[in-house]
Amino acid sequence: MRCPPASRPSDTVRRIQNRFNLNERFAAVTGMEYAIVAEDLTRTYKSFVPGSPVKAAVDGISLAVRRGEIYGILGPNGAGKTTTIKMLSTLLTPTSGLAEVLGLNVYDKKNIRTLRKRINVVSGGERGLYYRLSGRQNLEFFAELYGIPKKEQKTRIDELLSLVELTEAADIKVENYSRGMKQRIHIARSLINSPEILFLDEPTIGLDPEISQGIRSLIKKLSDGGTTIILTTHYMFEAEELCDNMIILSHGTIVGKGTVEDIKSTISGVSSMRIVTEKDPSDAAAVMICQKKLDVSTSRLLNEKYLTKIIMNNAEEEFAVIEESFRPYKIISIGVEEPTLEDAYLTLVSEG
Ligand SMILES: Nc1ncnc2c1ncn2[C@@H]1O[C@H](COP(=O)(O)OP(=O)(O)OP(=O)(O)O)[C@@H](O)[C@H]1O
Ligand SMILES: [Mg+2]
Repeated sequence: MRCPPASRPSDTVRRIQNRFNLNERFAAVTGMEYAIVAEDLTRTYKSFVPGSPVKAAVDGISLAVRRGEIYGILGPNGAGKTTTIKMLSTLLTPTSGLAEVLGLNVYDKKNIRTLRKRINVVSGGERGLYYRLSGRQNLEFFAELYGIPKKEQKTRIDELLSLVELTEAADIKVENYSRGMKQRIHIARSLINSPEILFLDEPTIGLDPEISQGIRSLIKKLSDGGTTIILTTHYMFEAEELCDNMIILSHGTIVGKGTVEDIKSTISGVSSMRIVTEKDPSDAAAVMICQKKLDVSTSRLLNEKYLTKIIMNNAEEEFAVIEESFRPYKIISIGVEEPTLEDAYLTLVSEG
């Protein structure tokens, strides 16, 4: 059974509403509206190098996650995604800032126990399961740990095994599972307490496209069922397919925030050009980079032709110049595309 939501917005939520300029009517339902609110959240670590100053892994981020949405946290390696997830899921105490999860302050030690019953985390990697036990035995173990009554356990476990399509493999030891099966039993394990918020840290990393698609369908199913999902990923198509809202982190700070469209619009006016040439156009590409300061990448295609991608700041002015420079390399095709989430991400991260 789910715990009832907070009936009125707390002080933290109200402060954050003011900051985000939310209106009065909206504010009245915000206690129910938001699963997570955080303001100026910061976490510093001692540097790995002895004697070096402390380093902010997450540096003053503010965010508000609505109940039921899929919220993405994107960013390059070391940007602070996992640290953010750890702070919001009570695994790491923030150094400073405010954070409320399901209306509960994460700093308050007595909230931690309550919160852990109502949320769950799937972190990337292989830890968190007992490999010598079968999938079903793992779920039984975690059901005991969460105090699920014995008579409810079997039905709940059967439901979860069916949800992650492991019914037939339920009694096989996890050590014999494929990577995709391990990740699915990880997710089943994380659902044992029917979490209101599920934190997924790179859930499809290292999985083949078909299995990844299965995991994404499962995430959508959970979201449709009302679970709030916090998702970190390095795959832009995954964020585009799943996330209602997202932040982009770079060096611990937010460099982009909003829906996929909001993020794309941060580079509106910018478009990308794709040119396929017969000959290697590296010289022309170098001129574009040095003289025109454009973002250019050239790669060799399987059919031995060359594909060049150029991010243009002003298509009208730059198209003709680029076409002329590439003409000596025998243009096979040339076209302009609207910016993708990946283009916007790369621009924001490189500026951040
Ligand atoms: N225990 C620690 N001690 C010191 N520094 C740490 C510790 N954990 C993380 N860091 C540093 O904090 C920064 C953010 O790390 P974090 O793991 O949150 O990044 P991330 O965005 O999840 O990266 P990735 O995409 O590689 O998983 C990194 O510079 C990392 O080296
Ligand atoms: Mg990480």
